Amino acid sequence: MGLYSDEELATVPETALNLSRGCGNPSGFADIRPGDTVVDFGCGAGIDVILAARKVGAHGRVIGIDFADAMIRRAHQSVAEAGL
Ligand SMILES: C[S@@+](CC[C@H](N)C(=O)[O-])C[C@H]1O[C@@H](n2cnc3c(N)ncnc32)[C@H](O)[C@@H]1O
Repeated sequence: MGLYSDEELATVPETALNLSRGCGNPSGFADIRPGDTVVDFGCGAGIDVILAARKVGAHGRVIGIDFADAMIRRAHQSVAEAGL
């Protein structure tokens, strides 16, 4: 629950994996349901945005926020590579 599973990591593009600097798996213990709106403060390259997006599904929404423009660019790249 505290760390990413192999199944989760298999769904995340290298761009997000290589730049991940988190110390846990927030979407692993958050009670995210289909249709939810999730805000990820300090989204980095987007690993948790991607994992949360898979949980909220097509009717949900995930908003990633980061104060580093370079990380936002990477997050956009990661999300596109994930096919989301
Ligand atoms: C631990 S890292 C990325 C976490 C991400 N969940 C991951 O595992 O890759 C934290 C991110 O928060 C951003 N950050 C730090 N302080 C912030 C602030 N005050 N406002 C917005 N973003 C911030 C940093 O730019 C960095 O990309």
